[in-house]
Amino acid sequence: MAKMIIAGNWKMFNNIQASIELVSGLKRLVTANPGCEVVVCPPFTSLEAVGNYLKDSPIKLGAQNMHFEENGAFTGEISAEMLLSVGCVYVILGHSERRAIFGESDELINKKIKKALSKNLLPIFCIGETLQERESNITFDVIKKQVTEGLAGISADDMLKVVVAYEPVWAIGTGKTASPAQAQEVHAFIRNLLGQLYNSTVAAAITIQYGGSVKPENAVELLGQPDINGALVGGACLKADSFNSIIEAASK
Ligand code: 13P
Repeated sequence: MAKMIIAGNWKMFNNIQASIELVSGLKRLVTANPGCEVVVCPPFTSLEAVGNYLKDSPIKLGAQNMHFEENGAFTGEISAEMLLSVGCVYVILGHSERRAIFGESDELINKKIKKALSKNLLPIFCIGETLQERESNITFDVIKKQVTEGLAGISADDMLKVVVAYEPVWAIGTGKTASPAQAQEVHAFIRNLLGQLYNSTVAAAITIQYGGSVKPENAVELLGQPDINGALVGGACLKADSFNSIIEAASK
């Protein structure tokens, strides 16, 4: 059975002070045994402070991006080692904003996933189709390409450490959520594809999160779908009480 994981992607929000305020609210609300894995992904500049604050709490720390090289002359980039040194357990890779705004390709994302795995950082690997792709009826082709190329050369053992996040681009930040049936259809497709690329044990064990306008109001129904094992939350994770409501929905 796949583990239920609720992760909050803070994106480019919150300086250190605001980060500590948010996470102190969360620490108060999230119970000692939340019933699902809880992850927060603050911006790089807040990782260390948030990581220190969360020591002795069940909430895990994740980053939003990473470079694929060990180190070197890559101005403005952050390495896996650096993320580990501030206490990161997870790293979001291939988010649609990285793909669309910063031109990240499947090949580049594949390199990042491999690097993260080699360092024992757990990748949250994001995939998803645009509105235009959905309307052209190529959603499954797009997902298949992203999964196949993003995971090329990754062994079944390593794959067990990867979390997949299905985030339809048209549902991100738009308030327009995929219906539970629409999301479930793609999640089932992804799990089936993982079964073909790996085996049925891997397919069953992998957490496939849904992301895109997840809110307390729609979380129960989305998370109740058989192939949805968690959520990658943007806007609604920036308030402790709404993020905690989603965590409670997942724990049911
Ligand atoms: P929203 O929840 O704001 O739609 O963002 C989703 C997302 O991109 C999480 O990575």
